[in-house]
Amino acid sequence: SKSPLIVVNLKTYLQGTGEKAVTIAKACKNVSEKYNVDIGVSPQFCDIYQVASQVDVPVYSQHIDGIDGGSHTGQILAQCVKDAGAIGTLVNHSERRLTLADIDSSVKAAGKAGLSTIVCTNNVNTSASAASLGPDYIAIEPPELIGTGVPVSSADPQVVKGSVDAVKNVNEDVKVLCGAGISKGEDLQAALELGSAGVLLASGVVKAEDPEKALEHLVSQI
Ligand code: G3P
Repeated sequence: SKSPLIVVNLKTYLQGTGEKAVTIAKACKNVSEKYNVDIGVSPQFCDIYQVASQVDVPVYSQHIDGIDGGSHTGQILAQCVKDAGAIGTLVNHSERRLTLADIDSSVKAAGKAGLSTIVCTNNVNTSASAASLGPDYIAIEPPELIGTGVPVSSADPQVVKGSVDAVKNVNEDVKVLCGAGISKGEDLQAALELGSAGVLLASGVVKAEDPEKALEHLVSQI
């Protein structure tokens, strides 16, 4: 079967800002080569260029706005993110929520710029709605489990399975990731068994004493 996608979201963790974003991106690249898995990284906007130009790793923006070039001071333009070196973007992360109309605009703007899209959702219904907008991936992340270290794949397997089924009904081309509390190999394994195509994770890697070792623990059993 196809190798899973793992995306490490650096959020605004100080442990993943600036030079430290580059260090974690290098860890992602090393582990992805060693174990032949796809590992991407999602740094803050200002770090996209530095990470993408120094490390040969897929870089995802944490957000983009549904705007075209023009007079939109303070907004995030898909083309700018793409030019900085990103290959994709998160949209509607639980910590950066949008309305459904805004998610639609962001997905369209990303598509125009050639960015791959991962739309985050919080339950089965929003997974189905997001799938209807035709992103490349949805990522189901129950907000109450984010950052807790309690893995969604064992604490709430039905929200993952339910999202996989609901998304398949709406649009078979949309793949499903899951996230929240994922850190161990068994969490990833369980996520894949539930039908997801990979995981989105943050604290288990970014806050680890040795992020590269944490990533190895995650992928070494698959
Ligand atoms: O985007 C991934 C994130 O929200 C999950 O966070 O810290 O539970 O892995 P964490």
